[in-house]
Amino acid sequence: MAVFVFKQMGSTNAECKNPCYAHGDAVVAVEQTAGRGQRGNTWSSKAGENLTFSLVWEADFLAAREQFLLSEAVALALVDTLAGYGLEAHIKWPNDIYVGHKKICGILIEHDLGMAGRLARTIVGIGLNVNQTEWDESIPNPTSIALLTGERRGTNDVFGDLYEALERRFEQLKSAPQSVQTDYLARLYRLNKPSTYALPDGKQFRGTIRDVRPTGELMVEHEDGGFVKPYLFKEIEFVLNGR
Ligand code: BTN
Repeated sequence: MAVFVFKQMGSTNAECKNPCYAHGDAVVAVEQTAGRGQRGNTWSSKAGENLTFSLVWEADFLAAREQFLLSEAVALALVDTLAGYGLEAHIKWPNDIYVGHKKICGILIEHDLGMAGRLARTIVGIGLNVNQTEWDESIPNPTSIALLTGERRGTNDVFGDLYEALERRFEQLKSAPQSVQTDYLARLYRLNKPSTYALPDGKQFRGTIRDVRPTGELMVEHEDGGFVKPYLFKEIEFVLNGR
């Protein structure tokens, strides 16, 4: 494995598309000028204040239909790292990292499929707020390690801790994938807590998360009707103040 640090680049996820990066390699940017987020959003992060990096993983022991387990392992590595700083984090499905009701980290995972329906190469992009304490007001509910602990940390140190946690969770994924799923559910934000959700047409409803399938669907029990329905990413949104 090798770590490549760039002072400035567009997006570390885009950079990792270059096949020169192999399993375990990481590309870190002090500043991203075109950071990408989920749902086609951008990711903004103050230069030098936070961790913005991507990691290449080759998990060809997983079938494509098991790809959500990989996303779970990454989210758990973030939870582990933050626990080391005294922060109790939860995972907002599918893989945002929250402390309390605020987002401290976003994850953007992109897979390439290989032969026979297996995963070939995965780019794991992580934006972890470390020292930033002020954001543009367009960013809904951000927080950072410094804001929560009152202490600034070296981004290199945090990278080292997180990289080790990622390696440990990768090993768990290889040896005991079922236990990754169990650990993920144990840290799930809003599990069994009645809350408000929105559908793509804007309609809101009250429901309770009961489970996440190993294939990634969020299982939500509707208050009105009592039935449990599976949702894919983009089919449901959390209403942020809808607790
Ligand atoms: C989200 O929308 O929550 C996901 C954000 C992911 C941001 C990270 S920063 C490093 C990597 N490079 C990118 O362009 N995006 C990811």
